[in-house]
This record gives sequence, structure tokens and C-alpha cells, in this order.
Amino acid sequence: MFENFQVPQNLIPSDPRFGVGPSLIPIEAVEALAKSGTKLLGTSHRQMPVRNLVKELQDDIRAYFKLPEDYEVVLGNGGATFFFDMIGLGLVEKSSLHFVCGEFSDKWYRSHKNIPWINAQEMRVDFGEGINPVELDGHDVICCTLNETSTGVQLSQIPKLRNPDTLMVVDATSGAGQIKVDFKNIDVYYFSPQKVFAADGGLYIAIMSPKAVERALRIEKDNSRFIPVSMKFSHAIENSRCNQTYNTPSIANIFLMNEQVKLMNKMGEDKVIAEAKRKAHLMYSWAEEKSYLSPYIKNPEFRSQAVITIDVDPKYKVDDLTKVLRAQNVVVDIDGYRKLGRNQFRIALFHNVTYENLEKLTKIISLAIERPS
Ligand SMILES: Cc1ncc(COP(=O)(O)O)c(C=O)c1O
Repeated sequence: MFENFQVPQNLIPSDPRFGVGPSLIPIEAVEALAKSGTKLLGTSHRQMPVRNLVKELQDDIRAYFKLPEDYEVVLGNGGATFFFDMIGLGLVEKSSLHFVCGEFSDKWYRSHKNIPWINAQEMRVDFGEGINPVELDGHDVICCTLNETSTGVQLSQIPKLRNPDTLMVVDATSGAGQIKVDFKNIDVYYFSPQKVFAADGGLYIAIMSPKAVERALRIEKDNSRFIPVSMKFSHAIENSRCNQTYNTPSIANIFLMNEQVKLMNKMGEDKVIAEAKRKAHLMYSWAEEKSYLSPYIKNPEFRSQAVITIDVDPKYKVDDLTKVLRAQNVVVDIDGYRKLGRNQFRIALFHNVTYENLEKLTKIISLAIERPS
């Protein structure tokens, strides 16, 4: 029913990328990378030009999140999925407790479940619902996902833990930068940068409390379990302290992320978050107003201000519409998470996706569905 739909000129967004990751990387950042010429790309990551870049990124992150002085910014290769395994192998003493509400929190749980010498337990809700982490006795790591990218669930609370020996560990991959947290309640806050931070995949950034660093180093020192060398926290931490990574990183990626953090630091976290909320309001209001749309996340408490998921009346096939929009290169990557298998749009509200373009997107979709056939 959408084959003949042509997006009117006045509704064409200034950038077609609305995807939840890899996300829109500003052309200006790509141009700045090209302008860096012979200074960074093709240089050793052990030399000062690249180490200065890594230091700038670490300092920028520290400034953006207003981190407590004694927290460390650790980075390494592998992304959040790799980090799931690093946590299971190197940070969990005996038992981790997982709050599962979508594909990524489930993947993290299953990563720990595969490790024979730790006990991984889950508290699970149906996909489409949210669940905040709570502290239960007997678990030394609490694992939660700040923004479940597969479903569009955002946590509304991360509590302060009572037991001083328990660590709160947060996968912040698609929420980092756009959802306020209190770092005093968190021991590890990690993410891949291909979401709000507009870089490419393959890198993890982990903000670690002294307690988390101490735990990781102690587990390694005990030497009572095998940890693959590429996954040792000691290597990641020691190299990050010297503004390096354990093995060779993508320098282009570090550069792109640094450009984005600089951009966001110009506004500051509070304003970035206010803008995210404004965009979320626009999108949820539209989804509630149209009879053929409905927000997938029914409870407003858990609705994400970083990734919105919208169910569509089965009469209108989302796949058909997205195909037509992609062919015209006016809107790309707004399909739902494939494993959920719903007739659904999933749209990034990330910092670089502007309010004006989101407004145009709502008009394009409304027009496509409402126009006389
Ligand atoms: C919440 C969340 N966690 C983990 C991941 C995995 O990240 P990566 O593909 O960089 O390993 C993703 C990827 O989209 C994610 O959204």
C-alpha cells in the first residue's frame, strides 16, 4: 500500500539517520577527522598525539558526567558485549543478579549463566514492561540495563545498595549521556559509543568506582580462576591510567567519540537531557494521539527518552513503509528490533537527531498512512 508513496520535498529531513545504533555521526565530525590529516590516523597509539586524544576523551567524559574524583574512566576494545563477559569473569565473586526486560539484558544474563563457577540469577518481566533493580541478599553484583534498546524501556530508579560489599553494575549503552543517574549509587557504568555518543562500535567505556577497581584487581590477584588475557581488568585499568588501551584501538573511533562529547559539553548534561525529554514528549504525544499508533511501553514510568518504540495497527505494514522510505534515502533504520517480531517503529531520540527532523518524521508517517489509497 506504500509503493507509490513519495515523501514531499518540504518534509525531507536534513539527515535520514534515525537509527538506534550505529547512530547518526555528524558530518562535521567526519570532516574534522579528515582534517586531522597525518596527525592521528596511522600513528602509534603508544605515542603522545593519540595518548593526548585519549586523555582529552577521558577528561571530557569526566566533565560531562561530573564524576566523583576517585572514579576512573577505563576504555578498551570489544564493546558492551565483550564487557558482559569481562564482568562475569573478572568482577563477579560468586553470584550476579540480573534484571531482564529485553534482549540485551537477557544476553548479559546468559553470558554470566555460561560461566560455570559463578551463579547467575535473573528477575524477569515480559518484554514491553520495565523492572527497576533491587538489592537481594546473596548476590555480590547487581546487573541492570539503563535503557533496554530492544524494547525502549528506561529504568526509573537505581537504588543505593545497603551492603558495602555488593557492586551495582549498569549497562548504559543506549542511555549514557541522556539519562540522569547518581554515580554515588553505581560502581560500574559502561557503554559502547555507537549510540548517543555518535561514534562507531567496537569500543567500551567503563566508569569504575574505587570499590569496583579494588574488587577486579583482587579477584585477579587471588589467581583462583582462569581469565583470558584480553579480558583482564588489570590490563584495561593500567593502560587507561596511561591514556592507552591494552591492544590497538580504532583511533578514528576515539576521535569521533571525543568530537561528540565536546559537542555535548558545550550544552552540558542538564540541557542535553532537557532536550531529550522534549523530543520524547513530542513522539509519545504523537503515538498516543493517532488511532493507528500506540506506545509499546504502556507504563509511562519506564518510557525511554533515548529510544522510542511505537506499535502500529497491523493493517499498515511497517516493513513495507520502511522499505519505501529507505529506497528514497529520506528515513533509514526505524524498524523494530527484529527478534521482537512486532509491527513496530523504533526511533532514536539521541542528541544528534533533531526535534525538527523528528517532527518531519511524524508527519511523513502520518501522511503515508492517512493519505487516500
Ligand atoms: C543496551 C545494550 N547493551 C549492549 C549492547 C551491545 O553493544 P555492542 O554491540 O557494542 O557489543 C547494545 C547494542 O545495541 C545495547 O543496546
